[in-house]
Amino acid sequence: MVLFHQEHRTRFTFLYFCRIFSEKMTPSPSILVTGGAGFIGSHTVVALAEAGFRPVVLDDFSNSQQRVLDGLRHILGYEVPCYVQDCNDRSALLDVFQRENIRGVIHFAAFKAVGESMQEPLRYYHNNLGSLITLLEVMLETGVPDLIFSSSCTVYGEPAVLPVTEASPVLPATSVYGNTKQVGEEILRDVVVAGKPFRVISLRYFNPIGAHPSAQIGELPLGVPNNLVPFVTQSAAGKRGPLTIFGDDYPTPDGTCIRDFIHVMDLAEAHVSALHALHKNSGSNSYDVFNVGTGQGVSVLEMVQAFEEVTGQKLNYHIGPRRAGDVVAVYADATKSREYLGWRSKRSLHEALADAWRWELAIGR
Ligand SMILES: NC(=O)c1ccc[n+]([C@@H]2O[C@H](COP(=O)([O-])OP(=O)(O)OC[C@H]3O[C@@H](n4cnc5c(N)ncnc54)[C@H](O)[C@@H]3O)[C@@H](O)[C@H]2O)c1
Repeated sequence: MVLFHQEHRTRFTFLYFCRIFSEKMTPSPSILVTGGAGFIGSHTVVALAEAGFRPVVLDDFSNSQQRVLDGLRHILGYEVPCYVQDCNDRSALLDVFQRENIRGVIHFAAFKAVGESMQEPLRYYHNNLGSLITLLEVMLETGVPDLIFSSSCTVYGEPAVLPVTEASPVLPATSVYGNTKQVGEEILRDVVVAGKPFRVISLRYFNPIGAHPSAQIGELPLGVPNNLVPFVTQSAAGKRGPLTIFGDDYPTPDGTCIRDFIHVMDLAEAHVSALHALHKNSGSNSYDVFNVGTGQGVSVLEMVQAFEEVTGQKLNYHIGPRRAGDVVAVYADATKSREYLGWRSKRSLHEALADAWRWELAIGR
């Protein structure tokens, strides 16, 4: 632990001087990160800064906390510019683009709770699609072409063939949330087909887990976690009751659902690779989609066992009935991301679970 702190301090100093030096030489391109205070957004801010970009966060903190900014400051050694704004607010967005000389955008800002989306469809369509349309209008007005959009493997529904490639069929969405991702992709494809000057990549995320190894940032769900790993860590830490595994009678080797769990820092780095790919692209108008997963299918039970092995914690869980809307199995073929973006996942499931647990202990203190 002491060793880790020393390493961290050295790294902090190194990053600080890198920044001072790079600011004096050439200005780093400013990248707007909408939803940058959220789980994936905050880790991407770190990856962007480490790759020499200048991240600018815009977040309304509807699903995040200000302490994320403290975590980012600890990791990076400086204050990341952050605008507390709603991405649907056109004039506020325009002001940020002009003030910060934005050169590219990563659009994370969205609501993401599947169950809630079925009860509040208008809220979800308004936020997830309204913010995207507003953003595209402002990008057109300010002449910023490069955009990376947060999509999801939910677009594949219940796939007939595994692993899924980007050519696998997009099946009718089973939730309002899933539909916002499908329609979001369609909007982006349509504006590019219409010849508008956009260069867009949609990244289809599989199941991000874990936290930054410094334990300064991680997943910080407000209320009862919707995702499996934060529930697991909170349950192991005694903050929640036993974990319910939804169904063990699926047609899989151990009867539980299979997912592709990817370390959030690997996912964060995929955005940097996608930005580089857009910058290398000499054309003025393009749209493409990429899977961002490990390619490994892991069952829910295997994930729970791996957590117990890594942390030495005994997890209290029971098997409940199946949950409506859960697909049996989905995992990625990430060959296209490897070949075209030069990206591949590097961190193991064990590493991700150890980082998630370290983060849980850090927020509990
Ligand atoms: N976490 C996952 O498992 C997963 C999987 C696939 C896709 N995604 C997508 O990735 C993106 C990021 O997910 P996450 O897990 O980091 O979610 P998150 O909720 O932690 O982060 C989203 C951030 O956006 C902010 N936000 C929401 N609406 C906003 C608005 N109108 N204006 C400004 N800020 C707004 C929230 O406050 C939050 O900080 C989302 O688009 C999500 O749909 C997530």
